[in-house]
Formats: sequence, structure tokens, C-alpha cells
Amino acid sequence: ETVEWEAASYDMGGHDTYMHKEISEQPDAVDRVLRGRIDDRFNTVHLGGLNLDPREARGIRRVKILGCGTSYHAGLIGAGLIESLARIPADAEPASEFRYRNPVVDPDTLYIAVSQSGETYDVLAAVQELKRKGGRVLGVVNVVGSAIAREADGGTYVHAGPEVCVVSTKCFTNTVVAFALIALHLGRIRDLSVAEGRRIIEGLRKLPGQISEILETEGEIKKLAEQYADAKSMMFIGRVRGYPVALEASLKLKEISYIHAEAYPASELKHGPLALIEPALPTVAIVPDDELLEKNRAAMEEIKARSGRILAVAHREQEKADHTIVVPKNEDELDPILMGIPLQLLAYHTALALGRDIDKPRNLAKSVTVE
Ligand code: AGP
Repeated sequence: ETVEWEAASYDMGGHDTYMHKEISEQPDAVDRVLRGRIDDRFNTVHLGGLNLDPREARGIRRVKILGCGTSYHAGLIGAGLIESLARIPADAEPASEFRYRNPVVDPDTLYIAVSQSGETYDVLAAVQELKRKGGRVLGVVNVVGSAIAREADGGTYVHAGPEVCVVSTKCFTNTVVAFALIALHLGRIRDLSVAEGRRIIEGLRKLPGQISEILETEGEIKKLAEQYADAKSMMFIGRVRGYPVALEASLKLKEISYIHAEAYPASELKHGPLALIEPALPTVAIVPDDELLEKNRAAMEEIKARSGRILAVAHREQEKADHTIVVPKNEDELDPILMGIPLQLLAYHTALALGRDIDKPRNLAKSVTVE
């Protein structure tokens, strides 16, 4: 697989920052990662570069995903997708943690290394360590021909196109979509039914249009960002599929606005962080319309009882929240992809309101090629 990256893609294209340009490009970027891969006859997807024949795919007993920062967060959502669609136990771990704990390398585990740049040292070193011990490693990478892509036994490119801004946005989204494709591919080789395959394919096809709908609400998100920009600290909560969305949104906010933020599973609030809740600490709650809706509402009630301000990202207005950003509903498994997008805009407009240098946040580099 190759992708032509024209010089024109490095142009700001009328946007004030690369970050804004890259957020806005997401409908096209997602369209690109889907293109040519969906098989409507068998309700599956083709990913030629995986180098995994069906028999090998059926033999996988675990999936372990490794990455850093945003790529790790995309991997957490990826692990959830693989567990739910392919029913293979899967988890994600920061690549640097993995490589320093002398991991047991299991021949029946499929390892997946995730990286936008394909050059992150900790991820590359984890891949090399795995290969040295005989592990099978796939790469989910954006930059074609990068070190991690070359080192892996196979993999898939995420086709987000060049990402210039230090903070990752479109590549996060495309990486999660790439994981949905891998999960669907593995699922259909294993026990995911034709009807379930169809359901996910229809959901995937809706994504670009639904992302465009979210981008149209930028004006409202900007107003909300201006209201919350005075916070010294923010809490992000979610459950199961919503938790990695909370992690990623909190990373985005701290990277470019320098507001302290933490992400917690909503269920963990009562085990400690509830002590922090007061009017000066707003909470962003990820509240999808799924089987956990009532649980998420209960968490919002706990916060309200302590006079905390709440901004919900949900599929319908949440009366427990002070404000709700309503996003279009997709299939439950694909909802995290859409729920992340308004939170990129929230971080962007918060940083803008605070006059930060959005494309070049202090102390950070686009590729971390050192330990
Ligand atoms: C993303 O906003 C960050 N700047 C950072 O966490 C990044 O995702 C991380 O360094 C990993 O980079 P990679 O995807 O190029 O490997």
C-alpha cells in the first residue's frame, strides 16, 4: 500500500493553524482509510498488508496493543473493538512500560504497535524486543515506510495524510477506524455473523457524514470552550468505551491549553477523586446512549450533589449536565470515534481563548525519537 502525500497537503489551506486544518480534514481522512477495503459480498474488510492467513487469524489467543500518548489511547479503543467484534481477549499498554517489564512473549499473542510517525523510539524498541523474542508484530502506522512500519511483520497504514501539528487529531480518529477494520476482519474470520458484519459496515460508512455534522457545531463548542477556559483543572470521565475518549480528551486539553486535566473511569470517582469535586473543577462526562447510560447519569448526579459543573458529550441533551454537546449516534462500538471529535475542538478553542501557541505547544516535539 502506498499513499501520495502532495506538497499541497502541507499548506495551511486557509486555516489559522495546522491543528484546525487537521481537525477539519477528518471526514476526508476517514473516507480514505475505508476506501477500497470494504467487501460487501462477505460483509468483511480486506487488509492485504496484515500478512495473516485465515488459519493464523483463528489461532490468535490474545491481542496486545502497544503505543505512546494518543496512539496508546487509540490502542485502548482498538482493544475494546477487537474484544467485542472478534471476541479475542485484547488490551493496550504504553510501549515504554511494556519494554521495561521483561514481558512474557507468547507465540499465540498478536502484538500490534501503533504510531503516527512510525518513529517513536519506545514503540520501535518494543517492536525490536518482541521480534527478538519471536513475537509476531503488526504495525498500525501513519507514515509510510517509517521505521516501525519497516520493522513490523505486516500491518495497515491509517492513511490520515501528513499530520503537522504536534498534537494528534486526525491520526487518532483514523487509527481508531483502522482498528475497527482490523476487528471486523478478525471477527468475520472467527465468530462475527454476516448480519453483525453488515451492521458495522453500515456504521463505518456513516462516519464521514456524521463527522461533518459535528464539525458544523464548532461555533457552539467555541462558546462553551470560552466559558470553561478559566478552569485551573478539569476532570474527564467515561466508562468502558468512553474511558479512553476521556483519556484522550484530557491529554489534548493539557497539551495545548496547559490546563491540568485528569481522566477517570466514572465508576472510580467514589474511590477517591470525588473529593476534588467543587464548583471550580468542571467535569467533562462522556455519556453515550448505550447500556451504561443510567450508570453515567448516576455519576453526573454525584457530581451535581457536590456542586460540580458538568459538560456532557452525549447523544441527547442531559438534564443533569450544565451543558451538553450532542453528537450523532452510530453503532455502540463506533461511538467513541465520534465522541472524541467535539473534544478536539473544545481543547482547540480553550487554547485559543488562552492565547496559546497551538501548533507548537511548549516542551513537546512531534516525534519522540529519544528515550
Ligand atoms: C499526541 O497529541 C501527542 N503529541 C503524543 O502523545 C503522541 O501521540 C506520542 O508521542 C506518540 O507518537 P506517535 O503516534 O508518532 O508514535
